[in-house]
Amino acid sequence: MKTALTDLFAIEAPIVLPGMSWISKPTLVAAVSEAGGLGILAAGPLDPDTTRASIHEIRSRTSRPFGVGLTLMMPGAAENTKVVLEEKVPVVNFALGKGEALVKAVHEYGGKAVATISSEKHAVSAERVGVDAVLLTGHEAAGHGGRVGSIVLVPAVAKALSIPVIAAGGFADGRGLVAALALGAAGVAMGTRFAACVESDLHENVKQAIVDKSQADTIYSNRFDGMWARVMETPAAVEATAKPMSLPRAGFRALRAAKKLGLPISRILGGFVAAPDRIRMLASFGAAIEKVEAATIHGDLERGVQFIGQAQGLVDDLASAGDIVRRTLAEAREIQATVADQLGEGTGAVRKVG
Ligand SMILES: Cc1cc2nc3c(=O)[nH]c(=O)nc-3n(C[C@H](O)[C@H](O)[C@H](O)COP(=O)(O)O)c2cc1C
Repeated sequence: MKTALTDLFAIEAPIVLPGMSWISKPTLVAAVSEAGGLGILAAGPLDPDTTRASIHEIRSRTSRPFGVGLTLMMPGAAENTKVVLEEKVPVVNFALGKGEALVKAVHEYGGKAVATISSEKHAVSAERVGVDAVLLTGHEAAGHGGRVGSIVLVPAVAKALSIPVIAAGGFADGRGLVAALALGAAGVAMGTRFAACVESDLHENVKQAIVDKSQADTIYSNRFDGMWARVMETPAAVEATAKPMSLPRAGFRALRAAKKLGLPISRILGGFVAAPDRIRMLASFGAAIEKVEAATIHGDLERGVQFIGQAQGLVDDLASAGDIVRRTLAEAREIQATVADQLGEGTGAVRKVG
């Protein structure tokens, strides 16, 4: 398959594994890249030594292009950025922060830079700072998708930009890939789909919950980690998103979060008076990290909360990453032939799909 994305990254399949914390690790990243897609390592929760070791491990498993995802607002992002640049990682994906200097540095060694964004406004700004592509997350997405659903967001942004758009949010199979291409994207990123695959380090309990749950079993709320985010609907998630945190509780949580993130306590105490909303946000963020770890790593859906997308309703099995890539391409080709026939431009050999 050939699109602007396969050309840009020198890959065979316009299918991306996005950087998912504690999930997009070397084995999974390499498996997706080896199958012809682009695997992206999630560096967010890694210290610089682990990031470097992970990059080396990916390179030992595949000689194909891969990426590293940086969450710029996270503590430790500057150190991880340094590692990524020293290692000359082929594709650098960044989210939640200004990437101008990073884009320039990536281009200096011939790498490609991709910004994760969720609105047309931010997509236009990202193109202006020189990124090579945007990873656009619609409302359906797991984690921090935008307010607008992919079916409207993707064509709006594709029309506004001249660089390739990677559509994310609701894409999990060949139908999704064909739809994304028809909407003007150059490929898809599939988070929920790859989270539930053989090589994913997501706890087996949660993988099974993804298979069992439907597209309606998610919650979109800004009360979980302080930003609008989509999580799996479970009793713990309902409780975590039921009401905003009280200020005293937020203060207590914020102090704990600051300690965990290595931030000075004085900043929290000062912020209490100056910007209570920021304290609430940090508190939510800190509490969320603990809950996400409980679900993702320990499989505890009684207390933990899991980022997940509406696409869980499209996941019926736990295939290997390579099979998912191959199957998505095969389904897409089949569906494309059917659609072409329906449009009166095919061979007449319509096959029934799915
Ligand atoms: C289990 C899980 C964990 C995720 N963790 C992160 C993360 O740590 N950082 C991030 O930028 N996006 C994260 N995402 C979001 C993905 O990068 C991607 O934007 C999203 O999954 C795309 O939508 P989809 O789930 O419908 O495929 C996560 C997604 C899932 C399913």
